[in-house]
Amino acid sequence: MTKSTASQDRVDTMTHLEYFKKFKRLNPLKPSLSILSFVLITLVFVICFFCLEYRRVGRGLNWLGLYGPFFSSSSNLNVRPEFLDEGGDGCDVFHGNWVWDESYPLYLSQNCPFLDQGFRCTENGRPDSFYTKWRWEPKDCNLPRFDAGKMLEKLRNKRVVFVGDSLGRNHWESLLCMLSSAIPDKNSIYEVNGSPITKHMGYLVFKFSDFNCTVEYYRSPFLVVQGRSPAGAPKEVKTTLRVDQIDWVSKKWRDADVLVFNAGHWWNYDKTIKVGCYFQEGQEVKMNMSLESAYRRSLKTLVDWIGSQVNMSKTYVLFRTHSAVHFRGGNWNSGGGCKLEILPELGLLPVSSESHLKILVDVLKEHSSKSQAVKLELLDVTTLTQGRKDGHASVYYRGPEIGLASVHHQDCSHWCLPGVPDSWNELLYAFLLKRESFGR
Ligand SMILES: *[C@@H]1O[C@H](CO)[C@@H](O)[C@H](O)[C@H]1NC(C)=O
Ligand SMILES: *[C@@H]1O[C@H](CO)[C@@H](O)[C@H](O)[C@H]1NC(C)=O
Ligand SMILES: *[C@@H]1O[C@H](CO)[C@@H](O)[C@H](O)[C@H]1NC(C)=O
Repeated sequence: MTKSTASQDRVDTMTHLEYFKKFKRLNPLKPSLSILSFVLITLVFVICFFCLEYRRVGRGLNWLGLYGPFFSSSSNLNVRPEFLDEGGDGCDVFHGNWVWDESYPLYLSQNCPFLDQGFRCTENGRPDSFYTKWRWEPKDCNLPRFDAGKMLEKLRNKRVVFVGDSLGRNHWESLLCMLSSAIPDKNSIYEVNGSPITKHMGYLVFKFSDFNCTVEYYRSPFLVVQGRSPAGAPKEVKTTLRVDQIDWVSKKWRDADVLVFNAGHWWNYDKTIKVGCYFQEGQEVKMNMSLESAYRRSLKTLVDWIGSQVNMSKTYVLFRTHSAVHFRGGNWNSGGGCKLEILPELGLLPVSSESHLKILVDVLKEHSSKSQAVKLELLDVTTLTQGRKDGHASVYYRGPEIGLASVHHQDCSHWCLPGVPDSWNELLYAFLLKRESFGR
């Protein structure tokens, strides 16, 4: 074991001891009574947990052998429509809950050569694998079970393009693994320019040669052009984001058959104004443009670009909404963490009111009231990701030889794979099947 693991264990042991000492201090005369009551309280809590949550976790508790025929039929009582059936259209697939599914995960990271080390949590030392076992279940219908062969068949001779920040990359790598699970010869899947999977490439194009299908990723965290400040700008301006100009690389995205955008994680103070990156419209640097209006303006630029440059009868365009972060007790740069989380929120998740999502929905509403409405499909993962504080890479992102990251430098924004982004692709799969059947 590595040094950092050992010191981690020591920290954990210490805290347990301290906690125990404190407990003793509170009840100096009756230590044995306090231990007894502690055990009782824990027991009551555990029983309550099972009673309240059996419907949600129900199927999941089989492995504990904690319930039998008494509970197991509860989930079969209500007949739920299938999303793909007629009448399933109205189902809001973005609201629901996470259910334990013994048949998950859909693939193993060891069998997928297309994963960044940073997402291989189990291989990086994460001891629990609960986080791989949850399936997203919409409140009012069933999603189709993911079938990699069927999806590849749908994607024959097609291009699937992901554009956005590293969460988009997380999403893209998940799809590479999910699709490649149906292909025994992994050598038949390759990067067209021979580039390896590394964090620093501008773009990567993987071809599934048996299907003449490419699954591509373009890094563009802001979606608009980022460049040097124009002549004559104030000296604090180091770079600008041209919020009225779509990324130059967009000409490579335009003719995709499926186009999945995302943005949001870089639209914050730390990654813009703080590092001298201001917002520009035309030739003018808008020194006092707020982050919010800049994000809004850039989304309008994106929607206008789609409306004028993308052939919507060929290209299916989606926007994957903001993916939740779970830093507790600080931010990403001030010791916030999620390492101790091993369970999702159980039960029906409250609908998210996250600010990036709100701005996006606003912009789309404004646009749809105009004449040429852009049919941009939302892949709204905001609510479902908010329930998954257990799914992040936390300290398990550095590779087995380097060892665990410090608890002060946790990754609570990216997701372990297999894991949460797989569910985004299950939704994408369901949408594609639905869309194709409309075309018949
Ligand atoms: C492969 O797919 C591309 C589109 O991605 C298409 O232009 C090309 O004709 C296809 N090749 C074959 C041999 O079908
Ligand atoms: C931003 O600056 C312009 C002048 O450059 C000014 O007219 C405007 O009132 C300012 N807006 C805010 C919100 O400060
Ligand atoms: C748009 O795509 C459809 C379907 O592929 C095609 O038939 C049509 O010619 C395209 N339109 C333009 C203007 O390229």
